[in-house]
Parts: sequence; structure tokens; C-alpha cells
Amino acid sequence: MPCIRPMTEADLAVVLAIEQACFPRGWSCTHFLAELASERATCVVAEQDGQVAGYLCLTVLLDEAEILNVAVDPSSRRCGIGNALLQWACDQAVRQGAKVLRLEVRASSAPAIGLYQRWGFRQTGLRRAYYEDNIDAVLMDKKLMEEDVDAV
Ligand SMILES: CC(C)(COP(=O)(O)OP(=O)(O)OC[C@H]1O[C@@H](n2cnc3c(N)ncnc32)[C@H](O)[C@@H]1OP(=O)(O)O)[C@@H](O)C(=O)NCCC(=O)NCCS
Repeated sequence: MPCIRPMTEADLAVVLAIEQACFPRGWSCTHFLAELASERATCVVAEQDGQVAGYLCLTVLLDEAEILNVAVDPSSRRCGIGNALLQWACDQAVRQGAKVLRLEVRASSAPAIGLYQRWGFRQTGLRRAYYEDNIDAVLMDKKLMEEDVDAV
């Protein structure tokens, strides 16, 4: 099982390397620093064998939570790290009083859409050509219920 812990500035070199490996125009160092400094956002890393292998950033406002970013190092995929990060996000969102968890995902990101469907997210909308290369953004959400947490 990966260990989930808060992200710190000391993690940013590894986090940025994963970000660049995952997204054509990913978050910059400045963007991660802003989320680390934000009172609304919480960023965590997943460590596997003592190495940072993935991360997730979550924001909660009143009863709505949003996954802002999630990625796993390509060399560490299909080992359950994405599931562990989603489990943490659902738990944390419920702890902070959220009733719904939202996200946006590239329509081309089949592994991510598979992950979200596994966690019970449903498509709620589509933004045409929202991302680079005219890739659509799929809007998804999941209703949160305390009894669901830890159920997957
Ligand atoms: C999406 C991502 C985070 C999944 O991470 P992961 O550690 O490989 O995920 P897990 O091993 O925990 O898999 C969890 C579930 O996701 C789904 N999944 C993962 N990879 C998949 C793939 N290639 N195709 C279809 N479904 C996939 C499966 O439902 C899987 O459950 P299962 O193992 O019981 O079949 C990873 O592929 C990634 O970083 N992708 C690039 C970044 C990205 O697109 N982020 C989303 C931004 S919105």
C-alpha cells in the first residue's frame, strides 16, 4: 500500500518531473507553490518504497470539493496508487464537509476516466476543445456519502 502524506516544497522537483511526464502543458512550479500556500487546497503525495510516485491536489469550498490535479509516475502505474489517492480524496472531502466531488478530465485520458468511473464518478458535461490540441474536457462528479468512504 502506498503511503499518503502532505506534499511539501521539498517534493516539488519529483512532482514536477512526474507532471511533465504526464501532461503536455502541466502545472508550473509557481502553480504548485500557490496551491501549497492556499488555505482551500490540500496537496498530498503517494510514496511507494520511500519514493514519491504520485500526487493529488484537492480543494474544498463549503459542500463542494474538486480534484484539481492527480498523476502517477508512468513507471509506477497499475499498482493501486491512483486508487489510494482517490480514496484519500474522498475521505478528505467528506471530513471537510463536502457532499459532492467534482473534476475535469481530458476526453483523451482513458486511464483517468477509467479510474474515475471505478470510483463512481458520472459525466455531467463536456467543454468542447477546452484543452490543447482541441481536446474536450469531460466534467464529472460523484456524490459523497459518509458510508461510501473506504468502501471501494
Ligand atoms: C489516471 C492515473 C492517475 C491512474 O493511476 P494508477 O496508479 O495507474 O491507477 P491504479 O493502478 O490505482 O488503477 C485504479 C483504477 O483506474 C483504472 N485504470 C487505471 N489505468 C487504466 C487504464 N490504462 N485503462 C483503463 N482503466 C485504467 C482502473 O479502473 C483501475 O482499477 P483496477 O486496477 O481495479 O482495474 C494514471 O494513469 C495517470 O497518472 N495518468 C496521467 C495523468 C492523468 O491523466 N491524470 C488525470 C488528470 S484529470
